Amino acid sequence: MAYTLEHCLRARQDFPALQRNPGLAFLDGPGGSQVTRSVVDAIADAYASCNVNTHGNFAPSREVDRRLEAARNVVAVFLGAKSGDCISFGQNMTTLNFSLSTAIGRTLQKGDEVLITQLDHEGNRGPWLKLEERGVVVREVRLLESGELDAGDMAAKVTPRTKLFAIGGSANSLGTVNDLALARRLTRQVGALLLIDAVHYAPHFPIDVQALDADFLLCSGYKFYGPHVGVLYSRPGLLDRLPTDRLSVQDPAAPYRIETGTLNSAAIDGLRAAVEYIASWGSGAGLRERIVDAMTHISDYEHDLAKIYHDAVRSIPGVRVWGPDFAEGRVRAPTVSITLDKATAGEAAKALGDQDICVWDGDFYASRPVQVLGLVERGGLLRTGISMYNTRDEVNRLLAGIEKLA
Ligand SMILES: Cc1ncc(COP(=O)(O)O)c(C=O)c1O
Repeated sequence: MAYTLEHCLRARQDFPALQRNPGLAFLDGPGGSQVTRSVVDAIADAYASCNVNTHGNFAPSREVDRRLEAARNVVAVFLGAKSGDCISFGQNMTTLNFSLSTAIGRTLQKGDEVLITQLDHEGNRGPWLKLEERGVVVREVRLLESGELDAGDMAAKVTPRTKLFAIGGSANSLGTVNDLALARRLTRQVGALLLIDAVHYAPHFPIDVQALDADFLLCSGYKFYGPHVGVLYSRPGLLDRLPTDRLSVQDPAAPYRIETGTLNSAAIDGLRAAVEYIASWGSGAGLRERIVDAMTHISDYEHDLAKIYHDAVRSIPGVRVWGPDFAEGRVRAPTVSITLDKATAGEAAKALGDQDICVWDGDFYASRPVQVLGLVERGGLLRTGISMYNTRDEVNRLLAGIEKLA
């Protein structure tokens, strides 16, 4: 089933925040999306029916155990993983990535190399840069002015000393989708691990961790219509071997090995509801088929709307669009960033915010690409993201606002 404006208008009714504030244009999806009524209900139900700890010998505790397992299984299907045993939960992507880098760092020797990129969010750079304190050499793949990573530089920087390559699936700053197949080929040749930051990728594209052949993949529920829960996929057998920070009393097996303390089980129930909501827009016999079908069609809708915005905003005098264009056949996320000659990104975002148009300005923690593109002095970028609930009317309002500012 295709996803059209008619479906979008129907979907909007499922998001309480959109119903409550019909005049607000939430074009800030890359910063965080709104949640559905089903997510709110799932979280409320968890608190109302089984707000107890796990592994108890009484009914509400058994229910929490059952729900956590169900959520792991549903998220595993969402990511195309073999089973829920590959799925660990945490506070957010950044915290999980720090836990992982700390553990992997303990297995590395002085002079071993880790590769990151100039395009990534700090959440996928900082945890790896921290390993420099242990004598690990952290190198970065160069970002080109086009908003794409330099493939030749990537090939040159994956060396026999490379132990891990941490790369984003898609850039939250520019919408670029990276060549993950190339990253996998290069890392395979030298026996390095491949870690994918899919925080900006997961809301816009179906994911198949097995087809990507990823060793680790991270994403975050609040970017795809769910609550604030971080997700780590680990290839079977990998996490069990890592010296993670954990208590002696904690279950040492994957996926629990990296999950310190008590999980936010109510939010995790909400995360399951978010994935099931996405699936409800797809058709097919099983959950995986419905997720892939829904994501594929929603992705097309978002892409078309983002392209309309991109092509129109690009033609406004005094506006420069950064990042890859929407050339036929190019895969990119529906996230478009601009600068204006006559206003900083902050001034523009404020003026638009005063008109109830929610867009972000600055670097969105993607400080390295903003620095490399020479945009720090100008206050960074003005970023617009299209989500499944955004309409042409909202984009038209945004364009009118920008035209005035330009
Ligand atoms: C591409 C990307 N990676 C990582 C993160 C960090 O995610 P979290 O807030 O879950 O730590 C973000 C958040 O905006 C992001 O956009």
